[in-house]
Amino acid sequence: MRVRANPLQEKLAERIRSHGPLRFSAFMEAALYDPDHGYYSAARRAHAEPTGAAGDFFTATQVQPVFGRIVCAALRRIREELGLAEGCTVADWGAGRALMAEPLGGFRYVPVEAGQPAPAPFEGIVFANELFDALPVDVARCGAAAARMMRVGWRDGAFCWIEAEPLAGEWKEYADRLSRRMEGPEEWILELPVRIEPVLRQMDGALRRGALMVIDYGYTEREAVRFPRGTLMSYRRHAAHEDVLRDPGMQDITAHVPFTFLGERASALGWRAGALEDLSSWLLRAGERDMFASVLRAESEEEEVRLRLQLKTLLFGMGEAFRCLRLEKGA
Ligand SMILES: C[S@@+](CC[C@H](N)C(=O)[O-])C[C@H]1O[C@@H](n2cnc3c(N)ncnc32)[C@H](O)[C@@H]1O
Repeated sequence: MRVRANPLQEKLAERIRSHGPLRFSAFMEAALYDPDHGYYSAARRAHAEPTGAAGDFFTATQVQPVFGRIVCAALRRIREELGLAEGCTVADWGAGRALMAEPLGGFRYVPVEAGQPAPAPFEGIVFANELFDALPVDVARCGAAAARMMRVGWRDGAFCWIEAEPLAGEWKEYADRLSRRMEGPEEWILELPVRIEPVLRQMDGALRRGALMVIDYGYTEREAVRFPRGTLMSYRRHAAHEDVLRDPGMQDITAHVPFTFLGERASALGWRAGALEDLSSWLLRAGERDMFASVLRAESEEEEVRLRLQLKTLLFGMGEAFRCLRLEKGA
């Protein structure tokens, strides 16, 4: 498929002509975070954000005030359970529009964004809503023969997938391990989560003691079998499609989060991983103390209806697709 010219496309095509096909993580990094033309950077320079009604997709964070109120109650409970100080730091890692600043006003709220240094060491909570799905991944094609890296090439004026070198080292081991779970398809596409560990290490350097709360869509190792074509997706104007090589910089690209891997890498850093649960169960537990009375507090009947609808969206619209993983450090 031919793609419309855009400056980032030219830049990436030139890189490929000079240095050969790119790893997908390099393509995705540029598509999302190139300082001049990346999807997130360009939107921010234009004082727009890709999330929300005028953007390309919604996140739970936009369901305000209900999401903010419930998360605030849940984080307060974590603070009590871990004996953290009142008003401790909450680092909103991958904060985007920082919509959690107001609801988390009772904490010391610190937004952290791509390309920014990690905050100075603190005791508290790292909150990461839809951060990990936005981290660049590599892509491999697996099957009976050796798993191979899929790189991005440039042919006839369009980006294309190119089967490249066999996987080696830790990513070969990762692919072999997940491949043992696959039954049925002769070949399948697997994303290699090459940026999870570097981000966890940054968080580990920043958080002296406390918890990391991850909310995202994803799968466990046992569930990998559900995604033989991989999980990469692009979002534009609230429509999802699978052509992630189209129009770099103009659309979002995401990959489901491999929660088993994330938990293992965090454990290797000395963190304790809790159970993985659906967002709906987590929200229900957070609201059960007062049966959502404080979450649904409203000035008028009309507002109450709006808040009830928000709660329904979170519990039933997003609550089954999204998962929560709590990790603790030094508890
Ligand atoms: C899908 S958006 C989610 C934004 C927000 N948390 C929400 O729920 O609406 C992902 C965000 O993560 C940010 N991000 C990506 N990589 C990051 C990194 N290594 N450190 C901090 N933020 C990052 C992106 O710039 C983007 O704002």
